[in-house]
Amino acid sequence: MDAKVTIPKPKNISLAQAATLGVGADTACLGIFNGLNVPLFNPDNPSAAKDEWALVLGGASSVGNFAVQILKAAGYKVVATCSTNSFQLLKALGADASVDYKKSQPEVISELLSITNRNLTRAYDAVAMNNELITVLYDELKDVSPKYFTTTGDLSSLSIAPHFTSHSVLGPIGRPGNDKLNSDLNSFIRIIVKLVETGKLAPSEMLEMGSGNIDDPVEAWKL
Ligand SMILES: NC(=O)c1ccc[n+]([C@@H]2O[C@H](COP(=O)([O-])OP(=O)(O)OC[C@H]3O[C@@H](n4cnc5c(N)ncnc54)[C@H](OP(=O)(O)O)[C@@H]3O)[C@@H](O)[C@H]2O)c1
Repeated sequence: MDAKVTIPKPKNISLAQAATLGVGADTACLGIFNGLNVPLFNPDNPSAAKDEWALVLGGASSVGNFAVQILKAAGYKVVATCSTNSFQLLKALGADASVDYKKSQPEVISELLSITNRNLTRAYDAVAMNNELITVLYDELKDVSPKYFTTTGDLSSLSIAPHFTSHSVLGPIGRPGNDKLNSDLNSFIRIIVKLVETGKLAPSEMLEMGSGNIDDPVEAWKL
C-alpha cells in the first residue's frame, strides 16, 4: 500500500466507522473528480449551489451513498435511483429526489427527464448495471452539452455515443507504483476527512460483531 493514499481517521468518528470509508469513498471520488470532470473543491468553503443536476444510479449502494453526499457538497442537485425501501435513506443523505429503478426503463427515463427538467449533465453508475439506460437517457439529452458518464463497471457494452464523455473508475487503488492514480487519491483525502468532520459525509452503516476472536469474521460473513 502506498502510504500517501492512507486516509487519517476523522476526529468525530470511531476507528471502526473510519474503516468503512477507504475504498468506497475513494471510488466515489475517482468517479466524481476524474470521471465526471467535477473540479476539486475547498471543503472549508461550501461550494455554491449549482442549477444543474447530477444522477447517481444505484444511490443505495455503498459507493452510491458516498457519491450522493460528495456531489451535494460540490453543489449539485442530486437525483438517485434506488428501490423504494431506500428513498428515506437517500433523502437523509441529501438526495433531492429518488426514482425507483425497478420500474420499466421508459418510466425511469421519463421520471428522470421530468425531475431534472432536462438539465442533467453528470451521471455516475455506482452499481455497474446501467450502460443501456444511460445510452437511451443521454440520447434523449443530445442537445445538452457537455455531459459526462462514469461507472464502476466497464464500458465495453456502452454504445459509442459522440455526444457524451464516458470513463470507467476502477483502478488498482493504493498499489505502489501507480503514481498518477495514487496522487489523485491523495488529493481527495482532505475533502473526505473535512466532509466527515463537518457532518456532510456519513461513514457507511456497519455492524460490529464479536470481540476480536479469529473466527469472528466467519460469523459475520454468515449474516
Ligand atoms: N464498496 C466498495 O468499496 C467498492 C470499491 C470499488 C468498486 N466498487 C464497485 O462499486 C459498485 C457498487 O459496489 P457496492 O459495494 O457499493 O455495492 P452494494 O453496497 O453491495 O450495493 C447494493 C445496492 O445496490 C442497489 N442496486 C442493485 N441493483 C441496482 C440497479 N439496477 N439500479 C440501482 N440500484 C441497484 C440496491 O439498492 P436498493 O437496496 O435500493 O435496492 C442494493 O442495496 C460495484 O460495481 C463494485 O464492484 C465498490
